[in-house]
Amino acid sequence: MIVTKTIDEFKIARKTLKGSIGFVPTMGALHKGHLSLIQKAKEENEFVVVSIFVNPTQFLEGEDLDRYPKKEEADKEICKLAGVDILFMPTSDVMYSNDELKIMAPKIRGYILEGSSRPGHFDGVLQIVMKLLNLVGADKAYFGKKDAQQLSLITQMARNYFLETSIIPCDIIRDNDGLALSSRNVYLSKEERQAALLIPRSLQRASEKISSGEFNTSKIKNSMIDLLREGVSAVEYVEIVNRDFKLIDEIEIGNTIILVAAKVGTTRLIDNLWI
Ligand code: PAJ
Repeated sequence: MIVTKTIDEFKIARKTLKGSIGFVPTMGALHKGHLSLIQKAKEENEFVVVSIFVNPTQFLEGEDLDRYPKKEEADKEICKLAGVDILFMPTSDVMYSNDELKIMAPKIRGYILEGSSRPGHFDGVLQIVMKLLNLVGADKAYFGKKDAQQLSLITQMARNYFLETSIIPCDIIRDNDGLALSSRNVYLSKEERQAALLIPRSLQRASEKISSGEFNTSKIKNSMIDLLREGVSAVEYVEIVNRDFKLIDEIEIGNTIILVAAKVGTTRLIDNLWI
């Protein structure tokens, strides 16, 4: 595995890869969720590139940028064992200059739900993903359904900007107790982790309601909120949308995403279920 830190180093290493390339962008503190993306990239391509960069422009004032978990050595080891060919670990100076041209998230889809709780977040995500996709020039790039709105916006950006890289959605990986894996789970105390389990349980409840014939989204949302309120510190939103991120009144099987954002203690967690 070649570890690169500058654009020039990356470009030199990239030129040695002659064949199809799968790319997995991450912010590090790698877990089995990230690993599943890397494995899928490995299965579907001759070479795999992973980036690790805690992108400052997608964090809002007062968010956890400064304390975002960093595990550089462990991450390198994980990538090496997973058979990654190039690991790109730039600093902010490498990725950004002053007074940059910006990519802006679409006015509606980029500013509802996560975009409303974290205004400007997706501008930063799209800006860095655009840079990385252009730099890497991969055939396929892999993103988790865990960040459903991010995935949807990146797919739109690839379409709107005629990018050559195909955006590949990947399933959510969960711990044995049901909690979706996230680098932020390390912030949770033992008690908070128990409370956090209400999030996947609320999605499970929704799934059961749908299986028993309840398609009315307000009723499903209310029963999820009731369950969440038994333990989480704040329910930021529970919403049911179609794959275009439009709110829907009735569940459409095969075209629905149920989304939750909640705070447990000071930790903000998101999760979702694709129906
Ligand atoms: P990060 O949170 O590190 O996630 C990197 C990728 O891993 C994303 O595509 C995310 O959806 C996926 N992922 C995280 N947890 C997952 C899980 N439990 N199951 C499946 N996939 C999971 O998302 C980002 O970084 C950044 O916004 C980034 C796209 C790298 C831009 O900075």
